[in-house]
Amino acid sequence: MSRRVRLGVNIDHVATVREARGTAYPDPVRAAIVALEAGADGVTAHLREDRRHISDDDIARLAAMLRERGRPLNLEMAVTSEMLDIALKHRPHAVCLVPERREERTTEGGLDVAGGHNWIAPFVEKLSQAGSRVSLFIGADPLQIEAASRTGAQVVELHTGAFCDALREGRASEAEAMLTTLREGAQQAAALGLEVHAGHGIDYETVAPIAAIPEVAELNIGHFLVGEAIFTGLAAAVREMRQRIDAARAGA
Ligand code: PXP
Repeated sequence: MSRRVRLGVNIDHVATVREARGTAYPDPVRAAIVALEAGADGVTAHLREDRRHISDDDIARLAAMLRERGRPLNLEMAVTSEMLDIALKHRPHAVCLVPERREERTTEGGLDVAGGHNWIAPFVEKLSQAGSRVSLFIGADPLQIEAASRTGAQVVELHTGAFCDALREGRASEAEAMLTTLREGAQQAAALGLEVHAGHGIDYETVAPIAAIPEVAELNIGHFLVGEAIFTGLAAAVREMRQRIDAARAGA
């Protein structure tokens, strides 16, 4: 059993609340500072093509704030030339390439790296050359993991959304099967030399089994923490999540 699991806090939905009224507040950069001070290791933000939450200006301000504090920005983005230009301008510590469809509410599945090698690999190369650590957001599918390793990406982020839904909804045997798939995927990815991250749909109830997967080095968590912040404040929510991650890791 290895290292401490890093926690990346995704502050997209602070911007969602702001965009609901088109005001200047609440400011996701302020939320990012609170999250860091409460124990987040880094900050994750998804600049969507439709700019439904995070804006270009948010990314510029987040990048500047994090650079000043020497903390990592993980920029989630679609595999498009527009997003590539933005990433090359800011050169974030990390880039996570995600699939994106305008009509979806959130990132519903993983990237099809197996079917899209010739499209995705040049993005991985350009971003890596610019100094960003590139991650591919994929399902824990052996074909996709194998394909991810062939792109030259350093990291895969395994999509935990379906597992979290199944566990929360009491579909225990489905959840168990999905957890086994996540564990095996993490082992396969690590054996191929990939760093393993995980994220999507994680809350207090679902974090422990994911954090206990020995190969998982980083979790990226957003929507639940921003929702919980309404009741407890963001700092308390981040501290509680951090504690649950550490406890799961220590007890595994
Ligand atoms: N990881 C990736 C790649 C994502 O796209 C998202 C959602 O933006 C997350 C993690 C965080 O998911 P959630 O907001 O459900 O915690």
